[in-house]
Amino acid sequence: MLPVKYPFRGRVAIITGASSGIGEALARECASRGGKVVLAARSAAKIEALAREISAAGRGDALAVATDVTQPDQVRRLLDAAEHHWGRVDLFVNNAGFGVWGPIEKLPMELIRENFETNVFAALDCAQAAIPSLRRARGCLVNIESVAALRGLPLAGAYAATKHALHAFSECLRAELAADGIRVLSVCPGIISTHFHENRKQIGPRTETGPDWLAMPVEKCARQIARAIETGRRQVIITWHGWFLALAQRIAPRILDRLIAANYRRLVRVVEPSASRKTP
Ligand SMILES: NC(=O)c1ccc[n+]([C@@H]2O[C@H](COP(=O)([O-])OP(=O)(O)OC[C@H]3O[C@@H](n4cnc5c(N)ncnc54)[C@H](OP(=O)(O)O)[C@@H]3O)[C@@H](O)[C@H]2O)c1
Repeated sequence: MLPVKYPFRGRVAIITGASSGIGEALARECASRGGKVVLAARSAAKIEALAREISAAGRGDALAVATDVTQPDQVRRLLDAAEHHWGRVDLFVNNAGFGVWGPIEKLPMELIRENFETNVFAALDCAQAAIPSLRRARGCLVNIESVAALRGLPLAGAYAATKHALHAFSECLRAELAADGIRVLSVCPGIISTHFHENRKQIGPRTETGPDWLAMPVEKCARQIARAIETGRRQVIITWHGWFLALAQRIAPRILDRLIAANYRRLVRVVEPSASRKTP
């Protein structure tokens, strides 16, 4: 087992997308390990309730700052609030994001742009805003990517492209920031049980993403991310099916191409014939 090199105790972590799913679970996990957490998302009531819950449970200190990450002025206000409250930022977790589902041929360009706006450009803007604080703290930037950053999958073309882009930025930033003592962690989860798939924007019939038994509980995912931060990992793939996909892509991409192309219509079960939900 890798030793803990960067314990959370006393460190300040900003987590975007903390109002639900992975961000919410990661905020609880960081706080339970002694970190001070700054919760950012658009749903102010949800992050304020979570901040109260964390503080009341004596599991650490928490601050909620309502933030739309696509708004640069709100991102700067978030950083200022954290610096003003605790005088430092050790960890910035780029977690806010959503999925766009549908065949690439049919996806409106507007929707693809919207996906890039949140999953890529906002994450980059957050990184640019956080780097001066992270440099002072010799801290860590965490990008929540996906196994879709390592292997594109049918119907998830736009989403996979956003995560590939974020993955590339992580690699470049890791090299650019190493001399400043800033670490960059790429997190590549497989299917995690959150509201992600309900919240995704969909074109065409609504399909199941995978059987329920495949989804990892979000608390377990948060523990693995926290552990990867503490041990100074550069990349972590979460879930066994994520590992399998990444390995198959590395050693036998052509076989994987054929398997996916031959089976995807059978594998993606249509659960809702109407395309109306969440479609712009
Ligand atoms: N669940 C999975 O299977 C899975 C797998 C791989 C990767 N991921 C990645 O994990 C991250 C978290 O997803 P999740 O599974 O936890 O989904 P989720 O439950 O839908 O949570 C998404 C979070 O992102 C926030 N968000 C979205 N747009 C935002 C914006 N413009 N400004 C600020 N916050 C915004 C939402 O908060 P508000 O709506 O309150 O703003 C929410 O807190 C995403 O980047 C996703 O791509 C998820």
